Amino acid sequence: MTRTPVNVTVTGAAGQIGYALLFRIASGHLLGADVPVNLRLLEIPQGLKAGEGVAMELDDCAFPLLRDITVTDQANVAFDGANVALLVGARPRTAGMERGDLLSANGGIFGPQGKAINDNAADDIKVLVVGNPANTNALIAQRNAPDVPAERFTAMTRLDHNRAVAQLAKKAGVTVEDVKKVTIWGNHSATQYPDLFHAEISGKAAFDAVGADQEWVEKFFIPKVAKRGAEIIEVRGASSAASAANAAIDHVHTWVNGTPEGDWTSMGIVSDGSYGVPAGLISSFPVTTKDGKFEIVQGLDLSEFDRKRIDASVAELAEERDAVQELGLI
Ligand code: NAD
Ligand code: LMR
Repeated sequence: MTRTPVNVTVTGAAGQIGYALLFRIASGHLLGADVPVNLRLLEIPQGLKAGEGVAMELDDCAFPLLRDITVTDQANVAFDGANVALLVGARPRTAGMERGDLLSANGGIFGPQGKAINDNAADDIKVLVVGNPANTNALIAQRNAPDVPAERFTAMTRLDHNRAVAQLAKKAGVTVEDVKKVTIWGNHSATQYPDLFHAEISGKAAFDAVGADQEWVEKFFIPKVAKRGAEIIEVRGASSAASAANAAIDHVHTWVNGTPEGDWTSMGIVSDGSYGVPAGLISSFPVTTKDGKFEIVQGLDLSEFDRKRIDASVAELAEERDAVQELGLI
């Protein structure tokens, strides 16, 4: 293998998602079966020992594509020459914590990491923020990296997208490959709008394929997808990890390798003002990808129903942006 290894940085590497993610990156699922990788694992000092343990296990897999592993608590080291960065480590909400406290704690993580990316990453850096609140954490990192093109900072709504595809396939009695053009709009939160009205199932309008049942859409489909994270926490006793890691792999793989003809995906990206989403917010849109770049799918007709739900989620994003602005984080 003569290709230059790609440097992949993962923060929160010793956590649950990290454990489900790293072995798949090292075995070629992120970038391709012919792309060697160097892994740079960033942890907080308390997580370093567990991170070393994961690195030992990675060694023990003898992955042909894995060239080098660094475990560090220094952001400048972790992001040095990074081509892809998966920002997973975040401060979870704990009992009694107000939203402002949560945003402030995460600002203390994503501000410095954005700066470290700005100062150290490779010119082609692509960033995916997974750690919650993902859209606003991505905004904080992006605004702290003024020399990096804004479109390189993305937030993960692919898990929501995959959840929507799975629910639609189940309802229509088809396989997931038959479900296309699903969109998650807005925030990775319970206000998100999973949109089936522009989707297709086996080449037909998805709404018709699920029985044209508006009540099912409003009372089951939308809340099921939007609140799935909370449902997983309740049933599994911990937040989604393997499915989140899988979605992170899908997000980057699609970004790098392109969306299939006749389909699109959902990504949290910096708005250019499309569909009335204020420019600069990191909001989820329908996007196609090609040659490592993405474009928002244009020209979708939005009904009043779509508009109301998109606006509600975007309003929440604007509130989060205003809160981090007031805290001086961006
Ligand atoms: P976890 O608590 O198991 O792991 C988080 C890890 O991050 C820990 O090892 C911790 O030491 C590390 N960490 C904390 N601060 C750090 C910092 N400043 N730098 C580097 N590492 C740091 O959590 P998890 O289950 O792996 O989830 C991680 C995050 O992903 C959470 O915020 C969770 O809410 C979020 N999440 C997002 C989605 C999504 O769809 N966007 C889905 C699931 C989970
Ligand atoms: C998910 O969607 O599964 C997570 O974002 C839930 C969470 O709060 O960690």
